[in-house]
Amino acid sequence: MATTLLYVRHAEVFNPESVLYGRLARFGISDYGKYHAERAATYLQDEPIVAFYTSPLLRARQTVRILARRHPGVPIYVRGALAEVRSSWQGTAFRALPEGKTVYETRQHPKDETIEDIWRRMRALALELVERHAGQTVLCVSHGDPIKILTLGFKGRTLDVAAVREPDPARCSVTRFAFAAPDVAPAVTYTDVIGGPDFTRVAALAELPLGSLTRIEHEHREILLARTAEGEVYALSNRCSHMRAHLHEGALDGTIVTCPLHGSQFQATSGALVRGPQCGTHWTANYGQPGRALSPIEGGPLPTFEVRIDGDDVLLRRH
Ligand code: FES
Repeated sequence: MATTLLYVRHAEVFNPESVLYGRLARFGISDYGKYHAERAATYLQDEPIVAFYTSPLLRARQTVRILARRHPGVPIYVRGALAEVRSSWQGTAFRALPEGKTVYETRQHPKDETIEDIWRRMRALALELVERHAGQTVLCVSHGDPIKILTLGFKGRTLDVAAVREPDPARCSVTRFAFAAPDVAPAVTYTDVIGGPDFTRVAALAELPLGSLTRIEHEHREILLARTAEGEVYALSNRCSHMRAHLHEGALDGTIVTCPLHGSQFQATSGALVRGPQCGTHWTANYGQPGRALSPIEGGPLPTFEVRIDGDDVLLRRH
């Protein structure tokens, strides 16, 4: 089974003076950044994350806390290897930096990091995590250049100044490294959670009977397509927010989806939780274990997706 490392760039920083904040303390995320981090948290809430790792810098720790709220009980570890580039230019206003030059071309101090230094520390941690979490999924919050350099390195690119001039990963974006084996280069995919993708075809309308619930996979997620008796199609996460039951095994009544495990109900049009889990033993008859303590989590709304019908094509886009 593949081992998956998800790298999230921290959210937008409150930086009214527009300085290169580097590793300086007290640069936290802005209100807009908090909003974006919540959107990333929604995007990531169905991932089976077993551990969070974060850069020690405030903006990364604030971002990871928002992401981790959707995964109660999952530990958060702080790792210096995920930190921002060490550069003695930190604290300098961007307008005062040498024009057209990267910090790697204008190193002022022997301790200023090189591109190779960053690749070495990021790669070493990634391989350590692949070994420690074999077959699992973990999430790391880091910074623009370190994530970019890790991506370029694992893609086999030459790590030079021309390469690091390529655009940084967007804030709150998710770069996914899937390792089939520790000694094999990972498959790398990138998702700009905030920018959002275009519509993608995911099914044929003819495959969705009226009044049905259908499970599909899209962008590494399980999605429920609910087609009402009237022919409308809605898309939402297929995993119940209570204990992650598969909702396509439940029931559709009008636009209400009922979970097969403990009877939580969700509004298909909005993902809203209409009714929390019903703890009567009859709700566990399908594949639950009567008498076992239920999760104290009440559940919450489910992420939804924008649906467009084009002829016989069902197209999806994240909100
Ligand atoms: S898992 Fe859906 S209500 Fe419990």
